[in-house]
Amino acid sequence: MPFVYDTIFLNQKYIPKENAQISFLDRGFLFADGIYEVIAIKNGDLFLLDQHLERLKTNLNELKINLPASLQLKDVCSQLISKNNIKNDAILYLQITRGAGHSRSHVFDDSTPPTVIGFIQSAKLPTINDLKVGFHATLEADVRWGRCNIKSISLLPNILVKTTAHKSGAIECLLHRGKIITEGSASNVFIVKNNEVFTPPQSDFILPGITRDYLIKGLKREGIPIKETPITVDDLKSADEVWITSTTRDVTPITSINEHKIGFGTPGPLWERAIKLFIKN
Ligand code: PDD
Repeated sequence: MPFVYDTIFLNQKYIPKENAQISFLDRGFLFADGIYEVIAIKNGDLFLLDQHLERLKTNLNELKINLPASLQLKDVCSQLISKNNIKNDAILYLQITRGAGHSRSHVFDDSTPPTVIGFIQSAKLPTINDLKVGFHATLEADVRWGRCNIKSISLLPNILVKTTAHKSGAIECLLHRGKIITEGSASNVFIVKNNEVFTPPQSDFILPGITRDYLIKGLKREGIPIKETPITVDDLKSADEVWITSTTRDVTPITSINEHKIGFGTPGPLWERAIKLFIKN
């Protein structure tokens, strides 16, 4: 079972996790009024840190949450690694809410200081051999709000479909709005057809995944054709390969979706090339 490392960051202080306290009036608790980031630590190093912090900044601006000028999140991330003596793989979480007001009110007060939490959780990031087995996914209607490009902590639809998917032996639930595939409950989606890779274009309905962006750039460098174009449910089911990307899963092959086998039911040759952009062995 994953565990949280002992030293966490809470509102400008590094403290033992047992001592962490958050007000019952925190707007994260009352309204899911906040955002978060998930950053992979590979062999003690933060992977794509600048890109994650840039997305966090964009999200803070979207929600009009102002961080204290003195708070350097990059520094918080490296301090958390050194204070917890992390030399292996793990996952760093940054959670920022609009803080605790004086009473419960939908209307927020710009002067409320945000609540900022950083912590590291143990994780075994997958090896190529772990991923080679291929994975099952489910497919469900995307009932989330219209601003899925914001990495909001309001994840109720995501956790409900993902838990149902897990109970049926799937690792992810892929989502569709009408005939169009958006993304996974916690990942972006790619398909391969006739040796070309396709992924849904950036829109308000998908998260601008850091792993998605890294993979697109890597595929281009490798000379593998990649197009950002809408993908239908039929395209997905008839694809030669389906992949999902996320910080915690790099690029993971999906070999069956509900009752449909994808391609030959095993990870395909382009996935074998794509994964090498993340893991060397
Ligand atoms: N989830 N889409 C959604 C809805 C996500 O929640 C995530 C990541 C992604 C992939 O984004 P990235 O490549 O930046 O990790 C796409 C994280 C891992 C989580 O919520 O734990």
